[in-house]
Amino acid sequence: MFSEKLLDAMNEQMKNEFLSGYLYMAMAGYFESEDLPGLASWMRVQALEELTHGEKFFNFLCEAGGRTDLRAIDAPKNDYDSPLACFEYSLEHEKFVTDSINKLMDQARQDNNHAAQIFLQWFVTEQVEEEASFGLIVKKLERIGDDGNGLLRLDEELAQRSFVPPAAEEA
Ligand code: FEO
Repeated sequence: MFSEKLLDAMNEQMKNEFLSGYLYMAMAGYFESEDLPGLASWMRVQALEELTHGEKFFNFLCEAGGRTDLRAIDAPKNDYDSPLACFEYSLEHEKFVTDSINKLMDQARQDNNHAAQIFLQWFVTEQVEEEASFGLIVKKLERIGDDGNGLLRLDEELAQRSFVPPAAEEA
């Protein structure tokens, strides 16, 4: 059902989703070290979401007859010059993920793999949302600049985010 190229790219994307979780947990650690618990909490939630994205690939591969191939993950970047630098880095990472999802979709189309195209559609939409939410925080941090009170207000705002398990989300 899967061409060799598509199967390789699906497994690589599964790795990238788990890698994203690892990266965002590293960012949560950075924010904890900066005494910004709200930003840290937001990143922890994002890390958990990324693990569910990786699991979606895992489940799809198992159901659709594609052999899973879990790959090595490099150490993520743990230190950042500022909260803004950290979120700029995460936005660039999301753009990289969007690009790889789009390439995967191109391959699924080329293979006439309809099941893979339908599966990937969720990720195409998700990436629009992810880039928007990271981008909005980058903009807010740019506006905040050196305003410590502004940063504390953003920290309180981002603390409100909570993890919604996929089953509850779809119910
Ligand atoms: Fe699942 Fe943020 O990419």
